[in-house]
Amino acid sequence: MNTSVRSWAEPYKIKMVEPLKMTSEAERRAAIAEAGYNTFLLKSEDVYIDLLTDSGCGAMSDRQWAGMLLGDEAYAGSANFYRMRDTVEAYYSYKYTVPTHQGRGAENILSQILISDGDYVPGNMYFTTTRLHQELAGANFVDVIIDEAHDPASFHPFKGNVDLAKLDALVAEVGAEKIPYVCIATCVNMAGGQPISMANLRALRAWCDKHGVRLVHDMTRVAENAYFIQCREDGYADKSIREIIHELCSLTDAATMSSKKDALVNIGGFLAMNDADFYEKACNLVVVYEGLHTYGGMAGRDMEALAVGITESVQDDHIKARVGQVEYLGNKLKAMDVPIVNPIGGHAIFLDARAILPHIPQDRFPAQALAAALYVDAGVRVMERGAVSAGRNKDTGENFMPKLELVRLTLPRRVYTQAHMDVVAESIGRVMMKAGEIRGLTFTYEPEYLRFFRAKFAPVED
Ligand code: F0G
Repeated sequence: MNTSVRSWAEPYKIKMVEPLKMTSEAERRAAIAEAGYNTFLLKSEDVYIDLLTDSGCGAMSDRQWAGMLLGDEAYAGSANFYRMRDTVEAYYSYKYTVPTHQGRGAENILSQILISDGDYVPGNMYFTTTRLHQELAGANFVDVIIDEAHDPASFHPFKGNVDLAKLDALVAEVGAEKIPYVCIATCVNMAGGQPISMANLRALRAWCDKHGVRLVHDMTRVAENAYFIQCREDGYADKSIREIIHELCSLTDAATMSSKKDALVNIGGFLAMNDADFYEKACNLVVVYEGLHTYGGMAGRDMEALAVGITESVQDDHIKARVGQVEYLGNKLKAMDVPIVNPIGGHAIFLDARAILPHIPQDRFPAQALAAALYVDAGVRVMERGAVSAGRNKDTGENFMPKLELVRLTLPRRVYTQAHMDVVAESIGRVMMKAGEIRGLTFTYEPEYLRFFRAKFAPVED
């Protein structure tokens, strides 16, 4: 026995369980055909292990559930709002908080306030809802992430970094006055859960100050980003996750948050900022789209659970186990020679569908087909993150063909055990063995917005 090894373990024990149901392969084949080969259209009860997303499907703690009983469901001025606002300021540094029903509610308000028709919003890779709200408000999204982020094989430790030369080129082309803000995400979802470094963010802050441009932070996965900074960036090994998160947020002017991820709640979000005028405008708009500025679409009890969730999400042992589980699954797959995005990200493993299904051209949606095949094998539900998610160019109507054609295995927080991860890895191994049998897909129904959620497909016969 190697006595020097000290494994991590989950910093909690399980107090309540929810039974899982296994279906037969014939049932799964029928279910995925009925769902138009779109895992979003499956019924949850037909899923065995659900790795569709890490959004809103995490397990709350006993303290969060206890907080739910403290819900002050007053229409105006709920005690839970003030607790949440004070927690946001203490942990994330932002002075003003406007609650929203979830992240995209905050993105809508932000985009409407800051964007004018014909503006350009640079970002470290797009996110589906974020880009759509920018476009609906009249902006053009510009990807300024470093090139390495588009290469699944690159081991760059901070693939979420912004290439400042790309920002300079944009200013030279359109002028800084056409750029209302730079939008940066911590732990970039579409790049594979890849972090931005503190050094890059500091340089970006200086760039924004020089050009008089705001810096807005999509902080949905800020705790996972802080963990990678602690592990990988010089000078941060002895700083706590809480300190690193505070520093990250302090470098930015405003934030949108989907609390359904790192903040460990099932629903909720907020828009936060330091500027009083911006806050006033956000209060004016939140009453139109979400609810009064002291609840913004959230129940009092949900704001209480969020306040507690934020304090739990910054604990070093929590985040170590959280990312540790993702790494456990990723390393298992690597040992089986499954091509995945490197380095292993914070919230998910991303399979490189191009490499697994080289016989399927990208316009036959290999990642969508692989996601469907994985469900059929063992009832594991995952999601496409490739050409279907990327959608169409808003001006030309052409399909985007992103370099990354990925399948995302997303791990909900505090929900599954290592044994579930073993089952998932075995299933992927089996699907890899019969990859040649998987056929491409074609649309039978394509919704106008965020098509990946509700699109339907049929296998291509040739
Ligand atoms: N920003 C990022 C980086 C996200 O990952 C999401 C949601 C949002 C904003 C929008 O927040 O869902 O609360 O409205 N991502 C989910 C996912 C849906 O599965 O990746 P929301």
